[in-house]
Amino acid sequence: MEFRHLGRSGLMVSEISYGNWITHGSQVEEDAARECVRAALDEGITTFDTADVYAGTKAEEVLGRALKGARRESLEIFTKVYWPTGAGPNDRGLSRKHITESVHGSLRRLQTDYVDLYQAHRFDNETPLEETLKTFDDLVRQGKVLYVGVSEWNADQIAQALKIADEMGFDRLVSNQPQYSMLWRVIEAEVVPLSEKEGLSQIVWSPIAQGVLTGKYLPGQPPPAGSRATDPAGGGFISRMLNDDVLTRVQNLKPIAADLGLSMAQLAVAWVLQNPNVASAIIGATKPEQVRDNVKASGVKLDAEVLKKIDDVLGPVVERDPAKTVSPEKRP
Ligand SMILES: NC(=O)c1ccc[n+]([C@@H]2O[C@H](COP(=O)([O-])OP(=O)(O)OC[C@H]3O[C@@H](n4cnc5c(N)ncnc54)[C@H](OP(=O)(O)O)[C@@H]3O)[C@@H](O)[C@H]2O)c1
Repeated sequence: MEFRHLGRSGLMVSEISYGNWITHGSQVEEDAARECVRAALDEGITTFDTADVYAGTKAEEVLGRALKGARRESLEIFTKVYWPTGAGPNDRGLSRKHITESVHGSLRRLQTDYVDLYQAHRFDNETPLEETLKTFDDLVRQGKVLYVGVSEWNADQIAQALKIADEMGFDRLVSNQPQYSMLWRVIEAEVVPLSEKEGLSQIVWSPIAQGVLTGKYLPGQPPPAGSRATDPAGGGFISRMLNDDVLTRVQNLKPIAADLGLSMAQLAVAWVLQNPNVASAIIGATKPEQVRDNVKASGVKLDAEVLKKIDDVLGPVVERDPAKTVSPEKRP
């Protein structure tokens, strides 16, 4: 496993990290969750990503139990706040009240005294940005959070936050967590150039497009049994990518992966890691074999000719519009 700096900070993260959205506390039983975390640790993954909202807060509990016994100093534990964790109007968003209450819940469920990275899961249009950033800064001073970042913020939102942090002397954002894969490249035009200039990294989610880039979803065929597309929680999220044009083009990536001696999942994870602004690719897994397959992408170099072949195969199905990075207008 290779390691990269998180933004312009001193923190190192494993360039492949393990995330538990859809899986822990939901799609997979606790045994499978534990085996996946064990495989991740055995393969050298040290960075783990979760969120308060995953599986209605159960995902953090499962991860906390699965990581029990691992040396805390050898782990980087990331979580997030914003999406609803209860029915009340203050159980959501980035207010001082919700952030403070949510981080306490996360620490309890994760069975840790601090999280390494705390991320604003979306931009909250209903809370002054100063309030959110001051609260994040307070958590850093209290030692409950070591670094702060955001997720799915656009370049303007990140720039606003950096300006306020610099003016007020708050801790600066070190990272953004966007969706990024061969199929979804919306950060490349604006978020990445700003982040490179300002010292933020991307920690990217769904690098294999939730399984689509493994090539296991075949055009014109029902999804394979047990896959995310058949899961009640996951099926809605992946369905957008399950159209025959995308799936046919993905099948045409198979010879490129085979020529390189890579599995399709490895090719997909290696592809996002070619971008030097990416600190880590967060992989999901329902089975330990998937973790063991995907981690082999660490350290793989893809040359310009390979990247060009991939672009030629995928053609117009690649999404590049920076306007696709959106947070809800009103809190959910
Ligand atoms: N910040 C955000 O808003 C946000 C949003 C989404 C995700 N995330 C983070 O990103 C993490 C990863 O997202 P993701 O799970 O969508 O990532 P992903 O790695 O693109 O997809 C993971 C899924 O693909 C399938 N898969 C993985 N490896 C495979 C292999 N080798 N062969 C066949 N199938 C394979 C598995 O699903 P099946 O076995 O069920 O098919 C697995 O659960 C999340 O856990 C979370 O931490 C963040």
